[in-house]
Formats: sequence, structure tokens, C-alpha cells
Amino acid sequence: MRQEYDKYTEEDFKVWGLLFARQMNLLPSLASKAYLQGIKEMNFCVEKIPNFQEINQILGKTTGWAVEVVPGLIPQREFFELLQDRKFPATTWLRKMEELDYLEEPDMFHDVFGHLPLLTNQDFCNFLRDFSTLSLRYIDNPLAVKLLGRLYWFTVEFGLIEKAGDGLKIYGAGILSSSGESVFCLTDQTPKYRFDAEKIMLTDYYIDHFQDKYFVIDSYKQLFDSLPEVERVLQKHAHEEALMAA
Ligand SMILES: [Fe+2]
Repeated sequence: MRQEYDKYTEEDFKVWGLLFARQMNLLPSLASKAYLQGIKEMNFCVEKIPNFQEINQILGKTTGWAVEVVPGLIPQREFFELLQDRKFPATTWLRKMEELDYLEEPDMFHDVFGHLPLLTNQDFCNFLRDFSTLSLRYIDNPLAVKLLGRLYWFTVEFGLIEKAGDGLKIYGAGILSSSGESVFCLTDQTPKYRFDAEKIMLTDYYIDHFQDKYFVIDSYKQLFDSLPEVERVLQKHAHEEALMAA
């Protein structure tokens, strides 16, 4: 599949522009430096729906990653195979004007604006690739897949980062693409915990409203360095039937 750029309508451009402007009004003080740097490097702007060919030229030069067009949610094996191959699956369709704030499944604004800027960061990319290799090794174990899914959720989708001198910031794409949660997640209304792979893998999450807790890393390298611990947790818990119901 490829992005059919000339099929985008006036409404698509308007939706991209509105969402982009709204988020970029908020994020300069809320999002992680690496993410904001990525937005600049990718030349994302309010007037233009990103062109995947241009994105791939830029990513190719920075981390060697690429974006791969998918129709929507794809099976987990295929998802991790793409990531392992340094290809990030993204949709090309945009939500309609009347669904700016609620979506049944991720659209291009989430996939592209939320996820792609951080793919300019090598440590984050290394984590994503090796996490996917690990996930593929356990892909036939439903409990392991569930525990790994929680780790992905609380980092790649809903992660926070706190670097010395830079305060608490957002790097998770699920937050970065949501105006409500971008503001909410940094308030005192929800507890924040230091990144702990085992604790995360034993913690359930919400898919239909804001998270009630967030986990904070101190660097993207910390994610990569946690992978041996992630595997240890899998080996410890991957046969505990009781966890299936958790
Ligand atoms: Fe996502």
C-alpha cells in the first residue's frame, strides 16, 4: 500500500491543520525535547499533511527507520515484524471534522503526529526494534503478549520522561495526539511512578478514558536497558494462569 497524496480533500487538510495547531499550542512546554526536535526535523507544519516519501527520506538519514502504510489495526505478529524491520506502521486516513476528539481506532494524526517524531531518536528506535524482536519470540504465548502489550502501552503510547533540569514531559504518542490528556497527565490528579518493568507488566490500563496512573522514565536508553529485565519478568510470569484474568 502507498499514501495516495492527491486523494486528500480540503476537509482532510483542515482537520490536519486544526489538530496540528491545537497540539502545537500546548506541546512546546509539555512534550519531551527529543519529540519536539523530531517535529522540527520532520518539517511537520500546519498547512501540509505530511508526505510519507519525504518522511522516509528524513528518517532514512537520521535513524534508518521508515514509515509503512497499513490500512488500520493489523495483527500483532505483522505489527512486530514491521517494527523489527525498522518500519513503523501508519494509516493514511484522517478523522472527520465531527470526530476531532473521539476515534474508534488510531488515524493518521495519531500515527504520524504522535509516533513518528520520536523515531528520529536512536535510543528510542533501538528499544522499539529489540522490544519487537522479544515480542516475536513470545508471540504464541497469550499471557506474555498481554504483559508486553502493557509495557508498550505505558511507554510508547502513554509514557512520561523526566530528565534532570528538564521537568516532567510527555513522550507517549497516545497523549501527544490528545489535547485533553496532554494537559491532564501532568496535573497532580494522577499518580506518577518511576519506570519499573515488572510493575508495569502487572498493571492493567484503560483504552476508553484517560489513564489513572503514568510511568516515568529518565532516558530513552533506560527503556532499551530494561529489556533483559522484561524477559526475566516474562519467564517468571508467563505461565501464571491467574494473571490471565487480571
Ligand atoms: Fe499508537
